[in-house]
Amino acid sequence: MPKMTFIERDGTRREVEVAAGYSLLEIAHKFGIDIEGACEGSLACSTCHVIVDPEWYPKLRKPTEDEEDMLDLAYALTKTSRLGCQIVLTDELDGLVVKLPPGTRSVLGL
Ligand code: FES
Repeated sequence: MPKMTFIERDGTRREVEVAAGYSLLEIAHKFGIDIEGACEGSLACSTCHVIVDPEWYPKLRKPTEDEEDMLDLAYALTKTSRLGCQIVLTDELDGLVVKLPPGTRSVLGL
């Protein structure tokens, strides 16, 4: 099973191991990591924003235009920002590291 690490807002590293095929949003919820995901993965919010480790960013599948549009609305956007609900953990991504942004802004107003 692939492993991945979430770096929480206070800098705590949480390494988790989970079967391949879950999105980062699903994994975060499973392990009690504070990613909101207000729209539950339907690309209608930006509250699942994560900042991907720069070494890992090029290894991810490119974001779709819809994801990029939604990312533009994310709070504290960086060059390696992605939406957690759009990244699926696979065996190839074993070791992936993502950081939680300092905050989120929801376009749903939730
Ligand atoms: Fe809303 Fe990812 S959970 S866009």
